[in-house]
Amino acid sequence: MKITDIKLTVVGVPRHTGFINKHIIVKIYSDEGVTGIGEMSDFSHLPRYAPDVEDLTNVIKSVLVGENPFDIMKLNKELVGNFPEAMYYYEKGSFIRNGIDAALYDLCAKYLGISVADMLGGRVREKIKVCYPIFRMRFMDEVEENIEVVRKRLNQGFDVFRLYVGKNIDADEAFLDAVQREFGQKVKIKSLDFSHLHDWKTTLQAVKRLTKYDLGLEMIESPALANDHEGLNHIRMRTDYPISEHVWSTRQQYEMIKHDSVDIFNISPVFIGGLTAAKRAAAVAEVAAKGVILGTTQELSIGTAAMAHLGAALTNLTYTSDPTGPELYIGDVVKNRVQYKDGYLHLPDRGVTGLGIELDEELIEKYRVNDLSWGEVSVHQLQDRTAQTKV
Ligand code: LMR
Ligand code: MG
Repeated sequence: MKITDIKLTVVGVPRHTGFINKHIIVKIYSDEGVTGIGEMSDFSHLPRYAPDVEDLTNVIKSVLVGENPFDIMKLNKELVGNFPEAMYYYEKGSFIRNGIDAALYDLCAKYLGISVADMLGGRVREKIKVCYPIFRMRFMDEVEENIEVVRKRLNQGFDVFRLYVGKNIDADEAFLDAVQREFGQKVKIKSLDFSHLHDWKTTLQAVKRLTKYDLGLEMIESPALANDHEGLNHIRMRTDYPISEHVWSTRQQYEMIKHDSVDIFNISPVFIGGLTAAKRAAAVAEVAAKGVILGTTQELSIGTAAMAHLGAALTNLTYTSDPTGPELYIGDVVKNRVQYKDGYLHLPDRGVTGLGIELDEELIEKYRVNDLSWGEVSVHQLQDRTAQTKV
């Protein structure tokens, strides 16, 4: 089989919060008549510049056209050469590699008539426990709005949540207090996510305040400045709770092991640049005797399905994971969205080939936008993932 063409389509899909995220839908065509699909998820992160999509298409064509899509390791090496790793969480080159890698797996698995999970190591599970995110509050009046989100999502079966914290600790505390009073044992807050906002010592003070409310806390996430591997270790040694951090490059993961920075690696294909790289990062975590969760950028159904296939094969997925993107967006671009039930992300059936997701061309047209260009949006909105415009 040979790759014959590549097509990239940009879509802008609003969330229930009003915040619009731009994604690129990838199609890889082959001379066997089989087409692979992937998703370069959520370019709507800092820094506020964007790749030119026409130019990007030409670059990717120059790397892939004429190649055998089964040469996944060779093609990943080529992709890293063209879109190198960086010591930055939201490096857009990683998003690009991720969309291509997923489409290669989809193409090859469809050609073989098997599910992508069967290319990645099969299934140790059919469903993955996930949590619903509560986005960061800056104002006290957001507390009640977020309690309402918990009420609504609990009714849909999401009993585990994670909380982005660190900009208004009074609001964070008021939220935890209100959750405890209203829901008691029915709701779990599995993680407090500081998103690298503060140095570890500032974070430690907030952790001491917020862990008075232990609602089933599994981990404290990103509690030091980005790439402060020693800082992570300092806070890790001063709190009883496991520390988790995202993996965004090979070197950064190595540094975190060297400095014994974490208990849990948060691994997302989008931030490490594909299923292949994510699978390797999970193996590295296993070698270092660390836990693993599947993180998220909040993908649409294609990106989320790819993560479900990856998670199916991980033997060391020991904590509650994060991908709930399709529940956050008001729409999607596929005929069959990924399924959530009782707070679990369910894998597509084993008999369904590839990622198990079918594109809906009408929906793609509905959400299609010309490019990845930025509208008016503030750094707060981008950090907090809300449409909140108050300063
Ligand atoms: C999102 O888009 O909601 C996430 O990627 C935010 C985050 O944790 O970076
Ligand atoms: Mg995101």
